[in-house]
Amino acid sequence: MDRNLSLNIVRVTEAAALGCAKYMGRGDKNIADKGAVDNMRKMFDTIDIDGEVVIGEGELDEAPMLYIGEKIGMASENAPKVDIAVDPLDGTNCVAKGLNNAIAVIAMGPKGSLLKAPDTYMNKICVGPKAKGVIDLAKPMKENMINIANALGKDLSELTVTMLERERHAEYINICRELGCRIKLFQDGDVATAIATCFEDTGVDVMIGKGGAPEGVIAAAAIKCLGGEMQGQLSPMSEEEVQRCNEMNVDVEKIYKLEDLVGSDDVYFAATGVSDGDFLKGVRYMSKNICKTHSVVMRASTGTIRFVEAVHDMEKKPDYAK
Ligand code: FBP
Repeated sequence: MDRNLSLNIVRVTEAAALGCAKYMGRGDKNIADKGAVDNMRKMFDTIDIDGEVVIGEGELDEAPMLYIGEKIGMASENAPKVDIAVDPLDGTNCVAKGLNNAIAVIAMGPKGSLLKAPDTYMNKICVGPKAKGVIDLAKPMKENMINIANALGKDLSELTVTMLERERHAEYINICRELGCRIKLFQDGDVATAIATCFEDTGVDVMIGKGGAPEGVIAAAAIKCLGGEMQGQLSPMSEEEVQRCNEMNVDVEKIYKLEDLVGSDDVYFAATGVSDGDFLKGVRYMSKNICKTHSVVMRASTGTIRFVEAVHDMEKKPDYAK
């Protein structure tokens, strides 16, 4: 795929972030999500890809835009055929409440490369490059923590484990406390936190626990670009969700490795901060009509990781980017 796609997809996440950041703290997650979706959808129309949404806002009957199966991009004769996974706003509640960790995000790979994950939970374990090769969801969590600490050359009391603050994680919290690990709970937005494990100075070493499966595939694309490792196992919560997994041909018993979640090296990932997070700053309003965004864009095949700080004059932007 053309390397210039990197810059184009970061325009898409910037537009999504700008579309929702203005709703920060308004207590309305739907309006924030809509702002991000509308802008992301419009911006995609300006990019020459022949894309299909494989992870999006839901099925056609649930989502008017960026639904699973929707064709996006200009689709000219020579446009690359790509799978697109989007989360125009991961952390809708973070924006509604003015909390950290919200990002706008896209992963893109050749057709057939991204796992079509149903809208159910996935139990995840994510680590950065130094702990690559030592995680195994089939093993007890305690053993994983010990192996990760060893790989990082840290004492267990120096290992920082992060997970969503949810009742369902009580057992993981107990295990980590018994081992003496540091625990960092977060409210929402496990894409940003999964990725944070791959940046040493974020202070988080490993993310564990159940979050959305679609978010898991998106995070996997970033972790692949960053040389980290991730495993995930689907965790349907109802008979209906099990049925959905079966219909979508995904195996609820299987532990999906990074290469099962993202089956190509030619994968791109972009994210723009909406609110502040461990590795991206949120949108800043500098003066009337002037905003600043902070994004990361990466490509697995070349290993290039670009941080992009952009200043936007909202008066001068075309409608599709506001
Ligand atoms: P939304 O932005 O769609 O609300 O998702 C936020 C999120 O925290 C994800 O990052 C995470 O994977 C999922 O929700 C966890 O789900 P739940 O809130 O049901 O525990």
